[in-house]
Amino acid sequence: MMGLAWAEELSVGNELIDSDHKKLITMVNGIEYMIRARDNFALPQALEQLEHWASVHFAKEENIARAIKFPFDQHSLAHKYLLKEVQHMKDELVAKDGIWSDGAAEHYSKFLSDWLANHVIDADMQMKPLLQSYPYDFKPD
Ligand SMILES: [Fe+2]
Repeated sequence: MMGLAWAEELSVGNELIDSDHKKLITMVNGIEYMIRARDNFALPQALEQLEHWASVHFAKEENIARAIKFPFDQHSLAHKYLLKEVQHMKDELVAKDGIWSDGAAEHYSKFLSDWLANHVIDADMQMKPLLQSYPYDFKPD
């Protein structure tokens, strides 16, 4: 399988955000692998973990945006959407007794990596010019 890979072009100019993105990419790749391998044992917990880490990451990102005074309302909606979709995936998995149709498996396995790649490139990247006027290791108080 292909999977996402973090590369310098994905850097948004902040160490905390970049390292979270690397971690999220690893998690999403793992989940896609589980979906494709029909690993129904590990998947529910992996989705649970993703939900947790994504919300921790989103909160961190929002804090940083606030600290650098970057308008974040629209961006925040995109985060809420993702969390809702992950919740939906979890519900769907339970409803189907852990067994998705091939179509659903294909859909969900692409959904997460597409969302993450597009989100980093379109939304997170908008903060880059401003983030770059701060040190790379900038952390809000
Ligand atoms: Fe974001």
